[in-house]
Parts: sequence; C-alpha cells; structure tokens
Amino acid sequence: MFTKPATSLLLATLATSVLGSVAPAMTMDERWLARRALNVGMGTRYGADCTEEDCWQKGACAFTDYTLPASVDGSTCVSEDIWNDGYQCGGCISVSYKGKTITVMVTNKTGGDKNHLDMTPDTWDKLTGNAPGSGPGGVDGIEWQFVKCPIATPLTIHMHGGASQYWPAATVEGASRRTKSLEFSGDSGKTWVKTTRDINNFFVAPGTLPSSTAWVRVTSHVGTTVVVKDVTLASGKITKATKNYA
Ligand SMILES: *[C@@H]1O[C@H](CO)[C@@H](O)[C@H](O)[C@H]1NC(C)=O
Repeated sequence: MFTKPATSLLLATLATSVLGSVAPAMTMDERWLARRALNVGMGTRYGADCTEEDCWQKGACAFTDYTLPASVDGSTCVSEDIWNDGYQCGGCISVSYKGKTITVMVTNKTGGDKNHLDMTPDTWDKLTGNAPGSGPGGVDGIEWQFVKCPIATPLTIHMHGGASQYWPAATVEGASRRTKSLEFSGDSGKTWVKTTRDINNFFVAPGTLPSSTAWVRVTSHVGTTVVVKDVTLASGKITKATKNYA
C-alpha cells in the first residue's frame, strides 16, 4: 500500500536529479535503477529429502530428465506472483544471503509472495550453510534479481511426453535467457506457426505439422532468437541447437 507514494517520491527524486544536473545525480539514478530490480524477501526450503533434480523432475516447468548445467549453482520454486504463467521457467536468479551469492534456476512453482524464493535442500544449504534458524521456517532478508544464465552450451528443444507431428508440444531447456515464444515451421523456415504456452511451460501448436520433423524458432524475453533445424517431433525427444540466446 506504500508503493505508490514511494514510487512517486523516487520519480520526483529522479526527475530532480536529472533536471538539476548535479554531479552525483548519475550515481543516484544508477543506484535507484539497481535497487528497483532487487527483491528482498523470505527464503525457504522445500522437499525435505529430495536431491537437487529429484525435487522438480516433472515439476511445474516441465523439465523432465533434465540435469542442471554445472555452471548453475542450484534451483528454486517461485510463487504464483513471480511465475507469470510459466514465463520465468528456466530463468536464472542471483540470490544473496549474509554475503553469500549463488545463481539458481527457476524449475518449479510454489506458494508465497512476490519476493519469496523456495529452494531445494541442496541449494538452500549452499546459500545459507543450513545455519541455525535457517530451517523449514526460512530466513527473512534474502536479496535477489533475475540475471542472464551462465550457460555457454547450446539450448535444447525437448518434445513433451506424448508429442508428435499431430500434437506438436515442446519445452526449451538449458537456455541462457527466459523464453518468450516458440514457433514451428513445417516448410524449412518459410512460414512459422505460433504456439500457445501451457501454464506448465510447454508450447503447443494449434494444429498438426506436415511431417515428423520440423524447424523450431525460439525467442527470448529480450527478443534474441535461435532457430533449431530438423527437430524430431516425437515424445520426449531432445534436439540440441547450435547456439544459445545472445
Ligand atoms: C514442486 O513444488 C511443489 C510445491 O512446493 C512441491 O510440492 C513439489 O513436490 C515440487 N516438485 C514437483 C516435481 O512437482
């Protein structure tokens, strides 16, 4: 409820500093922009005994038989407020607690508010060292923001269980950025068929495709694209691209 006045005040401050052309103004703007992206909230742990991948296999992001890239430290569930109909799946978050910072991937969905991260036991241990008071009740004051994933290897297109040319449905895995859209092409890239994103992070084409292979074009949240040729439209099939999102 304090959001509006606070925002107005910050905007006023920003406007003043820009118009005023005072020397430290840039620093203030930069600080304001950085702080705006930073979320501060509750950090908790879920899945008492599950190992990193087992905690979210077949979870809400539809990442099945997927192993976290070694360059990513762990994973987290995000709340419905952050989830954004699956849009944040596979996105990376830099999270800090008491001077420790790790990079985690969004792999599942849970309860909580817009600042809350619910992590796997392994990830939780890495961040908090299972410090006293950091049990299932969680800790307040984790700081986090979305960052580009530290993934240099190509992304992959993972056909959904039961998928085929008659039900083209796929999830993007191992992407360096969050995926905004996925399209199929049955004519080697001449025309593209838009898909609808299921709430559980797989993209479904509205009709059938002419053959059992197709091209796939994915677009990141910043508009960069990757085209993956000759994707086999079969249940559970994984096809590797030649690159990742710029
Ligand atoms: C995903 O998160 C939910 C909510 O915390 C949890 O119940 C579930 O076990 C997790 N894993 C999978 C595979 O759904």
